[in-house]
Amino acid sequence: MLKMEDILDEKEKILRTQSQEVKFPISKEDKKRVHDMIELLTNSQIEELAEKYNLRPGMGLAAVQLGIPKRYFVIVHEYEKGKFDNYVIFNPKLVSNSEEMIYVGEGEGCLSINRETCGIVPRYARVTIEGYDEDGNKIRIRAREELSVAFQHELDHLDGILFTDKIDPKEPFKNKDLYREI
Ligand code: NI
Repeated sequence: MLKMEDILDEKEKILRTQSQEVKFPISKEDKKRVHDMIELLTNSQIEELAEKYNLRPGMGLAAVQLGIPKRYFVIVHEYEKGKFDNYVIFNPKLVSNSEEMIYVGEGEGCLSINRETCGIVPRYARVTIEGYDEDGNKIRIRAREELSVAFQHELDHLDGILFTDKIDPKEPFKNKDLYREI
């Protein structure tokens, strides 16, 4: 089982690299890693388990955060209290987005960022992502609201970008009124 200590902190340089395209079929290690990532993210969102295993709640994790710079990530979305949807996508690409922009009012978080942050990160309200599932089948996912934010946040990880890069340190709430708070 993965632990919080397995997740790299933002000071690790590998988080700033461009992750590489995945070739199919995926390796046994990647298959196991995907399973472990789903387990970690799910447990982290279930209070008793988060406490038991000492996990900080997280919705998404990219392979590079475990030191594996490959283009895939996992998102576990609690769409209803206690009900989770898993998204696993390889070689994802943003294929379309809304004009409308949103931001998370309480601020975004990241399992690699272990400090208080503040400021807004503008994101598209809706996105369509294309990529491949574990078996190499083409998939297309439409996401809105917090799920859309999660997809954009994880896509950024594959290009070495952290959400804090998108906050102006001098004016963390710049242009707030141009975007809708979620
Ligand atoms: Ni993150």
